[in-house]
Amino acid sequence: MEPILDVTVEVHSHLSATDERTLAEDVLDGLTRPLKELPPKHLYDARGSELFDGICELPEYYQTRTERLILQTHADDIVERTGAVELVELGSGSATKTRVLLDAMAAAGTLQRYVPVDVSATTVHAVAELFADEYPDMSVYGLVADFERHLEHLPAPAGPRLVPFLGGTIGNLPPGTRRRFLRSLAPMLGADGHLLLGTDLVKDPRVIEAAYDDSAGVTAQFNLNVLHVLNRELGADFEVDAFEHVAFFDRQREWIEMRLRSMKPQHVRIDALDLELDFAAREELRTEISAKFTPQRLRADLAAAGLELVEIFTDPDELFAVSLARVA
Ligand code: SAH
Ligand code: TRP
Repeated sequence: MEPILDVTVEVHSHLSATDERTLAEDVLDGLTRPLKELPPKHLYDARGSELFDGICELPEYYQTRTERLILQTHADDIVERTGAVELVELGSGSATKTRVLLDAMAAAGTLQRYVPVDVSATTVHAVAELFADEYPDMSVYGLVADFERHLEHLPAPAGPRLVPFLGGTIGNLPPGTRRRFLRSLAPMLGADGHLLLGTDLVKDPRVIEAAYDDSAGVTAQFNLNVLHVLNRELGADFEVDAFEHVAFFDRQREWIEMRLRSMKPQHVRIDALDLELDFAAREELRTEISAKFTPQRLRADLAAAGLELVEIFTDPDELFAVSLARVA
């Protein structure tokens, strides 16, 4: 990575050697359960982040374009109602939709700072440089960090803060973690801050399943990539080609599950953990859930975290929701 010389950009990394241990601990914990599973943040290495950007462009993946449309329709209103001078974006990724909000803030004359927060270091560096260039009057403070653990490393607010958490990423946290995470947001929002939460909505399961099992096979590659991450980072010997991508909607829990199914009996060794694993033929490993919400559930989840729903913005087909909330 080139050093960043632009004075308006600072990137701070709070991921360190201990985070390799986190990967190792997560993998040990997840893969020794009766239903094997892996936590989703490890899907996003450099290649995973690139593949995810590919998913966002797929015809079946309605979320990204729908969320962008909602933001375009309501950005001016959101900026006016929040008086936001800075955006602190959680799980910013390549932040393509964020420009809609930054442009509205620039037009309102309030834009001061953008703070992208993501575990993917390459993504944070790229976005920080690109946006500092595109918005010369704005400062950028990039944070390479885990939003579940490192929010105390955020800079002090520059004024009323808007915290976008887009892309339905909240739905990727299992329910207990989701509640804990939402509760952890109040201190960083402060008395005059707002959360802007993007969530996918409950709908026809066929529409949802197609979004997670596209005909071009990009989602399958994205899902399988996590095995490459384990092979590389932990010296594992997964035979990646012997797994297939599975996505199904669990109607009771209202979430879609992504799994990897072993197509044959396999023995896997993970050197860094000194762990030997067996997969039976057709045994599945859960890699991600993506919860789908109803307005009732959104209100309840936010209320349980001490947050008050200000408004839910949605699209005409009610595919996706962007909720504005503040500390109750
Ligand atoms: N906000 C973007 C990207 C969503 S993909 C969009 O709406 O399109 C989810 C992003 O969250 C990825 O960039 C991933 O690296 C990041 N992420 C996932 N878990 C994270 C965690 N625990 N801490 C910080 N970032 C995380
Ligand atoms: N936040 C995205 C979502 O839940 C992440 C995602 C999209 C994803 N497609 C995926 C995760 C496929 C794993 C596999 O929609």
